[in-house]
Amino acid sequence: MKQDIFGRVRLGYVLVESQRLDAWRRFGVDGLGLHADATADGAVAFRMDAHSRRLIVLEGPAEDVAALGWQVDDAATLQAIRSRLGARGVEVTEGDPEAARLRGVERFWRFTGPKRLSFELFISPLLDSSPLRMATSGFATGAGGMGHVAITSRDPESFLEFWQSIFDARVSDRIEDRLDGIGFDFTFLRLNERHHSVAIAATRGLRMDPIRTRIHHLNLQAATLDDVTAAYLRCRELGLRIANTIGQHPNDRELSFYVESPSGFEIELGWNPIVVQDEQAWQIARYRGISLWGHQPMNLDAVTRIRRAGRGLVSLTRREFAPLSRTPR
Ligand SMILES: [Fe+2]
Repeated sequence: MKQDIFGRVRLGYVLVESQRLDAWRRFGVDGLGLHADATADGAVAFRMDAHSRRLIVLEGPAEDVAALGWQVDDAATLQAIRSRLGARGVEVTEGDPEAARLRGVERFWRFTGPKRLSFELFISPLLDSSPLRMATSGFATGAGGMGHVAITSRDPESFLEFWQSIFDARVSDRIEDRLDGIGFDFTFLRLNERHHSVAIAATRGLRMDPIRTRIHHLNLQAATLDDVTAAYLRCRELGLRIANTIGQHPNDRELSFYVESPSGFEIELGWNPIVVQDEQAWQIARYRGISLWGHQPMNLDAVTRIRRAGRGLVSLTRREFAPLSRTPR
């Protein structure tokens, strides 16, 4: 019988490539309330818990997320993922020691994932017991990992199949909504007790990708509601572009706001999403409307709208990269 690795994988780190390191430091420390360390490799490394690095911003031209690091429980889980990928024609290679140090892990293995994101697998993070100096009182990580990512896809069927066949992802629920005049379907996937580690967004009808960056947003979960409201006020005070005001999602019930990062993708800072504790009792629901209340869009000025429409049209001419070969070998 195929080994089930559900519950054995969680988001561990995110690596960003940017030319705006000073802006990122200010955004992370003064806005989000993260702990920042200067590093020997010239990157800005943010901490939020005992892991020595969670969000790493490396100098480079992409102005985008470069890699998602997935922490797996043990060597057996790593092996299961590697052999599934191998059976679908995906090559997995080990990263070099210097790259592992940059990511704050002992060793890691990588492959090219959906949308050409570098997907990286690791077992052991490097830990840092020195005190955290940050404005946020704490972040919820643990078994559910550091948060979730939301990604737009023109090929959501392949994307879903990737998560289900390689990571044993389970569908938590679905939401449909019209945003800025365009119909969207969202699918929320959980890899562990966190309601979702991945959300897939797809346009209805013509499948377009209006988002320049590989992810739409990265979610981080603050420890308290006060942490979220204080960060919201700090971000506004700093003049950062708020993408959505504070609001609540109907499915995970998280209270959150969205702010644009210096690299263009958004950070959702939230509090208190539900945890799926009883897998047997979970029912897949379908909701209408991405938010119960709030989440008022603030960044949809005319220029942004035109840019997104242009990107959506251009995306129709390109095929989205999907890592798995069509038929299992
Ligand atoms: Fe989210």
